[in-house]
Amino acid sequence: MRKIIYKMATNRTFTMLKPDSVEKGNIGAILEKITASGFRIVAMKLTQMTIADAQAFYAVHRERPFYGELVEYMTRGPIVAAILEKDNAVEDFRTLIGTTNPAEAAEGTIRKLYADSISENAVHGSDSDDNAAIEGAFHFSGREQF
Ligand code: CMP
Repeated sequence: MRKIIYKMATNRTFTMLKPDSVEKGNIGAILEKITASGFRIVAMKLTQMTIADAQAFYAVHRERPFYGELVEYMTRGPIVAAILEKDNAVEDFRTLIGTTNPAEAAEGTIRKLYADSISENAVHGSDSDDNAAIEGAFHFSGREQF
């Protein structure tokens, strides 16, 4: 009989290695840090967002002064999109990447190590379990998630 395994959505988060990380050749180093920190990759691809994709993905920021710059940045080249699994994934991943502004990020965090500025900050991490599920579904179909 086929065994059905239900996975708790609360154990997953969504990340993007942003265009600056890909341009600088940091994909391998960042993925190594993520997996060494106990996250399992359950979906992953190299992809490029269209302007419409980025406008929709960042719709929550559309009134912010940096919205246009953000859309331009996130669409200028490929990203690595991934879904990660670990107990307490959302919170633990945000600790691993550090604060939005790398100048304020803790030593050893991904943004401290690999980000240049508050706008070009190397990686994305979902801010809640609900957004992790929405953002993961934005980039991956059900059969691309393992
Ligand atoms: P992230 O937190 O992943 O998602 C929103 C993004 O907007 C953020 O990363 C930065 O890339 C960008 N961002 C946030 N604050 C600023 C800002 N003050 N100026 C420019 N870009 C910003």
